[in-house]
Amino acid sequence: MNQIVPRDLDVDLATLPRHWMANNATATAIANGVNLLFPHGERFFVRSVNQFRDQIDDPALRAAIKGFFGQEGRHAHAHDELNATLRTQGFEVDQFLDHYRRLSSWLEAHTPPKLSLAVTAAAEHFTAILAEGAFSLNMLDQAAPAMRQLLAWHAAEEIEHRAVAFDVLQAIDPSYALRIAGLIYATIVLGGFWLWGALMLLRQEPGGVLGARRDLGRVPRRQPIVRRVFLRGIRQYLARDFHPSHNTTDRLASEWMAARGMSLPGAITEAA
Ligand SMILES: [Fe+2]
Ligand SMILES: [Fe+2]
Repeated sequence: MNQIVPRDLDVDLATLPRHWMANNATATAIANGVNLLFPHGERFFVRSVNQFRDQIDDPALRAAIKGFFGQEGRHAHAHDELNATLRTQGFEVDQFLDHYRRLSSWLEAHTPPKLSLAVTAAAEHFTAILAEGAFSLNMLDQAAPAMRQLLAWHAAEEIEHRAVAFDVLQAIDPSYALRIAGLIYATIVLGGFWLWGALMLLRQEPGGVLGARRDLGRVPRRQPIVRRVFLRGIRQYLARDFHPSHNTTDRLASEWMAARGMSLPGAITEAA
């Protein structure tokens, strides 16, 4: 297993252009739609794993869990700042965020802890596939520099910790049915809130929802990231012998960054 270490990113979003993705309103709304979900979603991932932390004896997995918590906590914080930036750009996001937090908190309160863990394992697979696509499909090259920096850091760490929740789930309950129940649940909830968030943002653009398809057609080298994430991710996850390490993406982020003269911030060592 990779060493999983948190890193602090110092990035200034104050001058981020409103249409930071490919200079395009629709592509930005799609990207912002999932970005909006991260702070509350990643704190849920941490809670759902933390409920089982004391039942994990393997020292390597315990260390990985600690690194995973450190990374996700920082991602949530960075995406809180991005959400604040969307407000200063004039987007009304708080009504949506309030609905999202309330609905997902209600769901969490009514979901058995093992199923929440299975949902997190599946959602982490989706974020790892999304991260892989961000690098390998050169999506990040179309983002404004500050967002390229933020998302490259986030994506690199998603790839790094992609197996943690999955390994905790396997240690707690290796049932295939539970894993697939988590996949179905995560697909519906993540897909539903992402779509809702993106439509909510598009309604605040001059072209609205109806102009979105035409607007998206103007993006050069458009990549079907949503289809790739959901269809490829689901197909992989359905394989009985699937493990996140089967996706050999360990060097993807460092190679992508090196080719662009970028690097990750230094690792932070934290007390146990
Ligand atoms: Fe994250
Ligand atoms: Fe993650």
